[in-house]
Amino acid sequence: MSTSGAAPAPLLTEAELKLLQALVYQECGMHFDERRTHFLQDRLLRRLRDCRVDSFYAYYRLLISPAGKDELAKLLENLTVNETSFFRHKAQLDLFQKHVLEELFKQKQSRREYSIRVWSAGCSTGQEAYTLGMLVTDALAYYYLRNPLPVDLPLPKPLVPPPWRVEVLASDISYSVLRAGQEGTYSENQMASVDYSYRLRFFDKVGERYAVKKPLKEMVHFDFHNLKTEYLPQRNDVIFCRNVMMYFDEAEQKRLIDKFYRCLNPNGYLFVGHAESLLGITKKFQMVHRDSGTAYQRVEVRE
Ligand SMILES: C[S@@+](CC[C@H](N)C(=O)[O-])C[C@H]1O[C@@H](n2cnc3c(N)ncnc32)[C@H](O)[C@@H]1O
Repeated sequence: MSTSGAAPAPLLTEAELKLLQALVYQECGMHFDERRTHFLQDRLLRRLRDCRVDSFYAYYRLLISPAGKDELAKLLENLTVNETSFFRHKAQLDLFQKHVLEELFKQKQSRREYSIRVWSAGCSTGQEAYTLGMLVTDALAYYYLRNPLPVDLPLPKPLVPPPWRVEVLASDISYSVLRAGQEGTYSENQMASVDYSYRLRFFDKVGERYAVKKPLKEMVHFDFHNLKTEYLPQRNDVIFCRNVMMYFDEAEQKRLIDKFYRCLNPNGYLFVGHAESLLGITKKFQMVHRDSGTAYQRVEVRE
């Protein structure tokens, strides 16, 4: 018996759980198996109480009604895991910087195409996207020193030497993490993996926090994209989708990999989290492995 006076939690029946699991899966691809049912149940209960509805079925009805659109977005926000950090999984980033980017710059320059587009899909609060921006900037500066172009560089020298252009797209399904990424200020704890030279060059200390400097901030664009939908950003040279697919089941992972294939330029690269793999799921990508870093390159099929 409850001693706090709060109303007892409504019971979640097996049928209601199945309905809600299916709805979440259909909306965002997240799959809650037995290991994660408890988490789902807990988050559903919180939302249900916030909405002051008295049964899970009534909550489900609200979610599928036109009036429940905002609540559905809130529920999905509450179900996402947003853990992230700057310079996460260094070996993979080394592969990106030393091998993938170097090859990309060469190919682009030979075609006189000077734009690079990298997409952080499932970017959480932006640390991955800003990390990619810093790495591309450094790799391009190093490449440019060895392969200068006959153009006058304006003063002060821009972060990206013209005619090169770099765009990092950062997307997520959660509006609150997108807002945090867009704001671009981080605590000392969040900055733990950023070394001092990067802090100096790319951040301003504002009170207790570190704010991303304007040139890097202007390189990164935050936008809402649900990876479950078909309309995803096209013409990317590289896609990072790390620690996102692990919450999807195999069927949804396959669909997403097919979509990423179409979202990449020919010979483009896909990076997934180190607990994730494309092996056995697709033949459209081949694995590239260097010094403990792994990436997947789009295989070009001859028509
Ligand atoms: C664990 S974080 C990973 C952040 C970053 N990629 C990293 O590895 O550090 C997973 C992110 O994926 C997002 N996400 C989950 N399902 C999504 C979907 N269907 N569409 C877009 N983003 C999604 C979550 O909101 C969350 O911010």
